[in-house]
Amino acid sequence: MVIIKTEKEIGYMAEAGKILTACHREIRSIIRPGITTLEIDEFAENFIRSHSATPEQKGYKGYPYATCASVNDEICHGFPTKKPLKDGDIVKIDMVVNLKGWLADSAWTYSVGQISQEAERLLKVTKECLYLGIEASIIGNRIGDISHSIQTHAESEGFSVVRDFMGHGIGQIMHEDLQVPHYGRPHRGERLREGMVFTIEPMINIGRFHLKIDSNRWTARTIDGRLSAQYEHTIAVTKDKPLILTEQD
Ligand code: MF3
Ligand code: CO
Repeated sequence: MVIIKTEKEIGYMAEAGKILTACHREIRSIIRPGITTLEIDEFAENFIRSHSATPEQKGYKGYPYATCASVNDEICHGFPTKKPLKDGDIVKIDMVVNLKGWLADSAWTYSVGQISQEAERLLKVTKECLYLGIEASIIGNRIGDISHSIQTHAESEGFSVVRDFMGHGIGQIMHEDLQVPHYGRPHRGERLREGMVFTIEPMINIGRFHLKIDSNRWTARTIDGRLSAQYEHTIAVTKDKPLILTEQD
C-alpha cells in the first residue's frame, strides 16, 4: 500500500533532505584526483552524525557503508575503497539520511578533474532525465508518465536506461511500496496523488543497459564496461508543483 504523507511529515523529510543536501555540497567541494571513496564515505558519515542524524544505508540489509560510491562503469551500490580517484573518473555518491525517523535519499554524479566530452554529455542528459521525471510528477499523471519522459529523452540521445533498479516510495522506511521505473509507457501505472513521496533516480548508460553484479553481491556494473551516470532526488507530490526535498542549489 502506498503511504500518503501529511504536509507536516513532508516537512520532517525536508529537514532530513537539508542535511543530505549540505553533505552533497561539501562532497562536491572536496572531490579531486587523489581522494579515495573511503575518505568521502568517512566524511559523509561524520557530517551526517554531527547533524544529529544517521546514515540509513549503513547496515541496511547488511550494506556495510554510509554511502554507495560507484565509479565509472559501476552503476550503483559500489563499495567505498582505498583506491584514489583519478583525473577523468566519474563517481556516483548515494546516501540516505535519517533524521528523527524520517528519511531523505539522493545520489549525485561528480566528475573528477577533467572528464571526456562523452562523459560530460552523459552527465548532462542524465540530470535532464531526472528533472523531466520530476516535471511529470504532478497530480493526475501516472507513474508511467514519469518513466516514459525519462526513457524518451535518454534514448533520443543514444543512451540506455538501466532496467533493474527503480525509484521507490520513501518515508520512515527506505523502500516503501510504489516503484518508479525509469522506462515504460505513458498513462500506465499508479495515478499520482497529493502526499505521495518517492525517489526518481535514473541510471543511464552510454552503452547497453545490461548489468552484472560483483562477487560482493552488491555492486552493479555495466556489462560492456562503459560509463553509467545517476542523479536521484526525493520528491513529494503536492497540490501545486512537485517538491524536491533534496535540491542542491
Ligand atoms: N539509496 C539507494 C536507493 O536509491 C539504496 C541503496 S541500497 C543500500 O534506493 F543498501 F545501500 F542502502
Ligand atoms: Co539513493
